[in-house]
Amino acid sequence: MNYILMGPPGAGKGTQAKKIVEKFGIVHLSTGDMFREAKKSSESIRKFLVSGQLVPDEIVVNMVEKRLEKDDIKKGFLLDGFPRTVNQALELDKMLKSKNIKIDVIFFIDVHFEEVVKRISGRRVCSCGASYCVNFISPKVKGKCDACNGELIQRSDDKENVVKDRLDVYEKQTSPLIDYYKKTELFVDIDGLKSESEVFEKINKYIEAKKIVF
Ligand code: AP5
Repeated sequence: MNYILMGPPGAGKGTQAKKIVEKFGIVHLSTGDMFREAKKSSESIRKFLVSGQLVPDEIVVNMVEKRLEKDDIKKGFLLDGFPRTVNQALELDKMLKSKNIKIDVIFFIDVHFEEVVKRISGRRVCSCGASYCVNFISPKVKGKCDACNGELIQRSDDKENVVKDRLDVYEKQTSPLIDYYKKTELFVDIDGLKSESEVFEKINKYIEAKKIVF
């Protein structure tokens, strides 16, 4: 089964994505993670990320299309952070149609901006992929990753001035997607203000109840 996970920056998409792919054995396709990897060798991608701007649609669409050609996606996949503009959604529709792939559910994690600012300002990440929030989900030892004892750092796009720009970008370019997907039967609104485990329970129950487990 194939899912899309949407929501504003800091809504908890990455946090929930890890749990979903682990439980249901599907592939996590996070365009943000792909670009964080790509920015290590591409100055132009780095510039988009550190300024909180979206990477141009043609680059993103091309990257996702190539990723969807790999065999592992047959297990099912979870798109996290894509699509992010109505144009990307239209391109996704085209590419899925040409590959005869269907999306089964679109989960929208609904969190207001005041809360996401709190979450993002407190987020600390480890190079192993673990993420913490000093305001809510603290590591056991301050500044150290529970999983690998690595040093926790703040993402460059989590700095206060960039967060403001990311939220503006979300409002202008990504929020119109909500109406686009609400028109479909696939859209499910999840209250993202609940705790991490409550949000996951809701998503999990929904998947189980609809018997859409891969
Ligand atoms: P991306 O990595 O996708 O960033 P984002 O959408 O801004 O999302 P975040 O990673 O900030 O947040 P999240 O929703 O995953 O929240 P998390 O689980 O970490 O994209 C980064 C950049 O890449 C973009 O700005 C753009 O430049 C580029 N890009 C990516 N995709 C693109 C596309 N399609 N087109 C163009 N450009 C693209 O949680 C946040 C914090 O809250 C954490 O600290 C966590 O511990 C905490 N938390 C999570 N859940 C809860 C909870 N329930 N209660 C309390 N705290 C919680």
